[in-house]
Amino acid sequence: MPNIVVVGTQWGDEGKGKVVDILTPHLNVVVRYAGGNNAGHTVVVGKEKYVLHTIPSGILHAGCRCVIGCGVVIDPGSLIEEMESLVQRGVTLDGNLFISKNAHLIMPYHPVLDRASEAKLGARRIGTTGKGVGPAYIDKAGRRGIRMSDLLDERLLRQKVEDNLAVKNRILREIYDAQSFTVEEILNPYLRYAGWLAPYITDTALLLSKWIDAGYQVLFEGAQATMLDVDHGTYPYVTSSNTTAGGASTGTGVPPTRINGVLGVAKAYTTRVGEGPFPSEMQGKLAETIRARGNEYGSTTGRPRRCGWFDAVVLRYAVRINGIDTIALTKLDVLDQCETIKVCTGYRYRGDLITDFPEDETSLATAEPVYEELSGWMTPTTGAKLESDLPPKARRYLERLEELTGVPFCMISTGPQRDETILCEDSPLLRWFPSVRSSLL
Ligand code: GDP
Ligand code: IMO
Ligand code: MG
Repeated sequence: MPNIVVVGTQWGDEGKGKVVDILTPHLNVVVRYAGGNNAGHTVVVGKEKYVLHTIPSGILHAGCRCVIGCGVVIDPGSLIEEMESLVQRGVTLDGNLFISKNAHLIMPYHPVLDRASEAKLGARRIGTTGKGVGPAYIDKAGRRGIRMSDLLDERLLRQKVEDNLAVKNRILREIYDAQSFTVEEILNPYLRYAGWLAPYITDTALLLSKWIDAGYQVLFEGAQATMLDVDHGTYPYVTSSNTTAGGASTGTGVPPTRINGVLGVAKAYTTRVGEGPFPSEMQGKLAETIRARGNEYGSTTGRPRRCGWFDAVVLRYAVRINGIDTIALTKLDVLDQCETIKVCTGYRYRGDLITDFPEDETSLATAEPVYEELSGWMTPTTGAKLESDLPPKARRYLERLEELTGVPFCMISTGPQRDETILCEDSPLLRWFPSVRSSLL
């Protein structure tokens, strides 16, 4: 059974939640491998809207086992809130949710450090979500992080909190002039959380290995996206984990030899939340119009998303870095009323045309987008069931994007609902999930 990674190809919010939810009935396990509650993955089911932050988007399907892998950083208070809200809405977690004992904890000082560091950076801030994700990964790499398994050992937890506070409190007070913490202030709630979460904490790498041996099909749910990857994204304006497909292996303990394919999710245009370079960014009224039509406001922070045209340079880069086999294209409907649609095909840098994404900060900052213009279709696309139902100019747009990215599209999304999805002709998805045909057609 092929195990597939679903990865964002741009700067996040491509609609990964919707894609994962659609595929879930055709597989057995969904595992998150990176990021934390900085993610916001939206699944719309009829009139109900769910925004998943730490729990995999497969959780809405009762038969699916959902795993939070070791590459994820977990804010236990936020996770428990998410769990309670799902249970209240009738979702079953017991027997369906598994949390890696090696996943690192976001501690109360991490969001404070995150926000204080942003404030100190001023104009050079990253524009983080303020959830403490970056500082938690800093501690993980610094080998002073606290892991889920530590929650279950009070003596060890106390020791680690004491060691951390001895340093963190000085940083908080002396560098950032921010609040400091007492050991008890942290241990009291965290020991309560431990009681809650204990039944879910386990060796998920071992479980995944056994499940794959038994023929279960696993889907790796990427959070954030390629351009936010700490190594491959627009550094330093990135998140602090390996969000690209390679992270699926290290972030779960499933070896690369047991991962069989990569599905990239791309919007029909581009958005970005937070600071940093964005060559195909739209300005003024046009950006406002797309933001309004696409409801482009952050699922986690509510911040308005910056909007831009589809950037084929970014997409080709994402295809190369992740080894993407096929792309699910989302939010085509948002362009329904555009008379003209631009596609960025290259960048001009110091007079030269670049078609490979420049990884260094300086060239990227001054790269000028080179556009190709296509005429818009000016017709609603929502509700189309087949590619042949789409207006010819929309099909031409899709064909051109496929040519420019160099990989075939597998599905086209024309609205947030499950059934606002087109399965492409000869969709590569059918090789991986043969039963998808029956649910999407
Ligand atoms: P994720 O982080 O990649 O899961 O994406 P988000 O959930 O943050 O943002 C995607 C938003 O677009 C959500 O509000 C989805 O409900 C919505 N959405 C997904 N696909 C489509 C689509 O094809 N058309 C429209 N109009 N909205 C969509
Ligand atoms: P999903 O999974 C969009 C962005 C933040 C900021 C940068 C660093 O929903 O696509 P962080 O809090 O991670 O240290 O912030 O990364 N960012 C996202 N942008 N979608 C996300 O997740 C994001 N997660 C982080 O806005 O620019
Ligand atoms: Mg999101």
